[in-house]
Amino acid sequence: MTQLDSDQIKGVVKERYGSLARTASEASGDDCCGTDCCSTASSEEALTLYSSAETQDLPAEALAASAGCGNPTALASMQPGETVVDFGSGGGIDCFLSAKAVGPSGRVIGIDMTEDMVNLARANARRLKLSNTEFHLSDMEDTPLDENTADILISNCVINLAPDKDPVFREAFRILKPGGRLMVSDMVLVDDIPEDQAADTSNWVACLAGAEKREVYLGKMRDAGFDGVEVLSETPISGDEGWRSSIRSMNIKAVKPAS
Ligand SMILES: C[S@@+](CC[C@H](N)C(=O)[O-])C[C@H]1O[C@@H](n2cnc3c(N)ncnc32)[C@H](O)[C@@H]1O
Repeated sequence: MTQLDSDQIKGVVKERYGSLARTASEASGDDCCGTDCCSTASSEEALTLYSSAETQDLPAEALAASAGCGNPTALASMQPGETVVDFGSGGGIDCFLSAKAVGPSGRVIGIDMTEDMVNLARANARRLKLSNTEFHLSDMEDTPLDENTADILISNCVINLAPDKDPVFREAFRILKPGGRLMVSDMVLVDDIPEDQAADTSNWVACLAGAEKREVYLGKMRDAGFDGVEVLSETPISGDEGWRSSIRSMNIKAVKPAS
């Protein structure tokens, strides 16, 4: 396990994603993308997770901040009128796709602990003139949301960045309504990675060092109370030579029992 402490990890994560948000906020159509997001080489690579139909109407400043490893909105079967919460909403890309899916009668709530990201996401929501989407500056482990708020909780390449995953899944469970769905895209390990790599802060901010072993990750979801925990798909990451071959991008679903 890592020798880094929790505050140190959260500090470097905020620094890295604050910097990405500031770069993205200056984006224009031709010069849109930051570099070194998540495990991908650039936000341009993260954007390959989305169809052009999904991204064509989004602001360049939202696309430039994209740092995910999946497209959880596309997998969540969102219905008009539903309430969606996004843990680690970044520049807001998945919230904006969700806002379209749930429509004006629905509600989308993005949660992010990095102030510059929340400011960027709010500016992007204004650009899109969205009235059903809000962003909160908060740790996902302890949000200001009431229990039983969400029909769907999504998260895209974020939970790996949490030093302790248990409180994240407990908070997701608390926020979801009975019968609510969890749809997560995240980096997960299929084998151990070397200790020196796990203790390297640059690997943490790149969504690699904080990845949890698959069985442990799924076990933590079940321990939080989730049923129907299932890996829908797993994909090797780019540049997957050496120790990086132990890491996969996974789409994982679960449900909060109806009673
Ligand atoms: C790799 S980026 C992904 C952003 C977004 N989901 C996307 O797909 O573009 C990770 C984001 O999660 C946020 N984050 C990391 N740990 C967090 C935590 N414990 N609570 C809230 N936000 C967190 C970071 O500030 C950053 O904006």
